[in-house]
Amino acid sequence: MILEKYVDKLPLPTTLKPKEEKEGIPYYEVVMKEITQQLHRDMPKTKLWGYEGSYPGPTIEALSYKPIIVKWINNLPIKKHLLPVDTTIHGAGPDTPKVRTVVHVHGANVPPENDGYPEAWFTRNFSNVGPYFTREEYYYPNKQEATTLWYHDHAIGITRLNVYAGLAGFYILRNTDEDKLNLPKEKYEIPLVIQDRSFNEDGSLFYPTQPDPPVPEVNPSIVPEFFGDTILVNGKVWPYLEVEPRKYRFRLLNGSNSRFYRLSFDFGQGDPNFKWIQIGTDGGFLEKPVELNQLILAPAERADVILDFTDFYGKEIIITNDAPTPFPMGDDPDPNTTGQIMKFKVTLPLEGTDTSTIPNTLNTIKHLSEKNAVNFRNLTLEESTDKYGRLMMMLNGMMWDDPITEKVKLNSIEVWNMINLTVDTHPMHLHLVQFQILNRTPFDVDAYMATGELIYTGPPEPPESNERGWKDTFRTPPGYVSRIIAKFGHYTGRYVWHCHILEHEDHDMMRPYKVLKKPCDSENCL
Ligand code: C2O
Ligand code: CU
Ligand code: CU
Repeated sequence: MILEKYVDKLPLPTTLKPKEEKEGIPYYEVVMKEITQQLHRDMPKTKLWGYEGSYPGPTIEALSYKPIIVKWINNLPIKKHLLPVDTTIHGAGPDTPKVRTVVHVHGANVPPENDGYPEAWFTRNFSNVGPYFTREEYYYPNKQEATTLWYHDHAIGITRLNVYAGLAGFYILRNTDEDKLNLPKEKYEIPLVIQDRSFNEDGSLFYPTQPDPPVPEVNPSIVPEFFGDTILVNGKVWPYLEVEPRKYRFRLLNGSNSRFYRLSFDFGQGDPNFKWIQIGTDGGFLEKPVELNQLILAPAERADVILDFTDFYGKEIIITNDAPTPFPMGDDPDPNTTGQIMKFKVTLPLEGTDTSTIPNTLNTIKHLSEKNAVNFRNLTLEESTDKYGRLMMMLNGMMWDDPITEKVKLNSIEVWNMINLTVDTHPMHLHLVQFQILNRTPFDVDAYMATGELIYTGPPEPPESNERGWKDTFRTPPGYVSRIIAKFGHYTGRYVWHCHILEHEDHDMMRPYKVLKKPCDSENCL
């Protein structure tokens, strides 16, 4: 079934309103439940899991340095998961409730008990909770720059399924400095979450039950990566958006399980001078705007962009995608399906005049220096097989359940060198911090595998011009040592770092790490 493109309007997520104030702090409640939703004009309604009855969930908006409280409530079915649960992977054993949730605000700097630790899961009515469960109400301090964050489920061993079922939404931080930038706002500021899905004939979500080649002794079994054949934006299949001939601000999020996007434009005829103007990264504004013909987004990465339709009245512009799957060495997307994302129709009359601007200076970013780093860690990204012979990705050759090896001192600066020995690019993500990319250097993988010695085969490559801001997820290409620098604060405790390809994350490409007040070698100190 190939669905007709550009017949449905782009939906705009609603903005969540606080229920009340608790001691002056806005208090929200968000209920997760099973829903059905029309994802395309010609498709029967699809059963999904949504926050507050919608997929994607409503947008949470907060102000920098103004805390909020959210109570995340699980009203999902008690027993039956919407999708095939593999009980052989970490944290997902047969004794664990199949339907469990825990919400993580991706990119947020929060105390550990509010971070959505994968083992802090809970079931309907909090009737059963995981080993690290701390509380029903989450407190978000929001002590960070204005930016586009997102919330999504993070339950151990089933994150890929819970997010695929629909559990994701935007979390936007604003501040008064941002108002001074005079960017396009209100109805000219639109979040766009791009996701791939596959469907059965009856409109239900398709998610595979076996890898290729199959593993008969495990059924259903996790797959090494998942790529859907249909693209959705804000929960609609290949939607269109009517726009005015003026500037718009879009907050792009790749909310897909495994798929990367490399986004450009198609005008049908000719290729006019129309570019992405990127103004922000995962963690805040760039120092200055960056013009791009192609915009790459790995899973979980965000890009804050301006598109200027001023000179394009009457035109139709399609966002196209040519990122191979797996990235960067896999198959090209089909130009008729996954090679297309959405369409802009510049058909609305201009309302008044466009007085918004794109300032040359957007932000001042303090660049962290290696000279101030107190620790340099070499961390490998490797391919392995599990006891069923299935492909499994690991960090440092360790499993999720192995003892914690990354222990960082509070407020210290560290450099993490991610040594990618695999053939895929992995979007690596650290909880708690926003970091900066130092560089990426090609090295001899075979020599490293044979002797453990790092032999560089080229000079360090600086980050791309649109990566020179705060990041919480970054691409680590195969055969490169990709290096980041971060200051670890403001909180101590247990967090995680992982690959954001969700099938990798669930199958052991995730590790706990700790931020400690003092150096400590035991498992239990803080
Ligand atoms: Cu989107 Cu552990 O993160
Ligand atoms: Cu995160
Ligand atoms: Cu990965």
